[in-house]
Amino acid sequence: ARITLRQLLDHAAEHDYGVPAFNINNMEQALSIMDAASTLDAPVIIQASRGARSYANDVMLRHMMDAVTEIYPQIPVCVHLDHGNEPATCMTAIQSGFTSVMMDGSLKADGKTPGDWDYNVGVTKTVTNMAHLGGISVEGELGVLGSLETGMGDKEDGHGAEGKLSHDQLLTNPDEAVKFVKETKVDALAIAMGTSHGAYKFTRKPDGDILAMKVIEEIHRKLPNTHLVMHGSSSVPQDLQDIINANGGKMKPTWGVPVAEIQRGIKNGVRKINIDTDNRMAMTGQIRKVLTDNPEEFDPRKYLKPAMEAMTKLCKQRLQEFNTAGQA
Ligand code: G3H
Ligand code: 13P
Ligand code: ZN
Repeated sequence: ARITLRQLLDHAAEHDYGVPAFNINNMEQALSIMDAASTLDAPVIIQASRGARSYANDVMLRHMMDAVTEIYPQIPVCVHLDHGNEPATCMTAIQSGFTSVMMDGSLKADGKTPGDWDYNVGVTKTVTNMAHLGGISVEGELGVLGSLETGMGDKEDGHGAEGKLSHDQLLTNPDEAVKFVKETKVDALAIAMGTSHGAYKFTRKPDGDILAMKVIEEIHRKLPNTHLVMHGSSSVPQDLQDIINANGGKMKPTWGVPVAEIQRGIKNGVRKINIDTDNRMAMTGQIRKVLTDNPEEFDPRKYLKPAMEAMTKLCKQRLQEFNTAGQA
């Protein structure tokens, strides 16, 4: 069944678990997530970015979401727009059957310029005002994602702030978070505390200097009833880096967000955890391996099937680690 983000995260808060929000662009990723969720009896969030919508087409996405809820009727699924850049993007997502949207006003509509307070509150309020009339949930973001090590946004992935950012911009201010939630009435709040999108988050295993989990604890103390969202939460596992690099890939050494830190977040109000990169790596590792081991092969199913199995395995791991398993 399709449910809203608010319904799902209220349940998660009541029962002390977190829900991974996995990105999709295609059928293989949607089926992999649902296979994992159904095996573990877990609710799940499937999210599509603007890039995913233009890659797959809204009509295709809508029918795919209908298809997975028909195949797995017992699994609660929230279909969420990831990083909506303006109110219109959120509205067209709602028209396409999304039950939840993110209005990311931490950046202007160009996806590069940090949005100031009035801009962010303004666009976010516009979306909550409209979406709530139709029973649709809204995620907002306060603070700009980017690296505390370098001060850079995650521009190399095609979206993210341009130029150097100050610590003030990179870390959500807890008092401002209280005001923001009060003014915008968002159902969930994404916060910035040192994570960034993509594989290259940290140049070393993160400690409190570069991954500021303390900020989450402080925000949770001030906003105990607000569902918090961690973006850029892939762990970038070493074994997946190794499979890719052992089969012709050239990923540079890198660190992601340790699962233990996410678990600490879940104890402090984090209810939605965004993961895309880990699944991209899981699939790509298997595709590279199958094609390296069998250079004569050209049937896409021969590499997409193992790729799906690797993605299902990753999703199952996270559903277990976040205690989502068994909550459907
Ligand atoms: O926001 C980050 C997600 O990983 C989606 O990435 O915009 O390349 O689809 P994308
Ligand atoms: P990762 O790149 O760490 O998987 O983050 C995904 C994300 O935050 C999507 O909004
Ligand atoms: Zn994100």
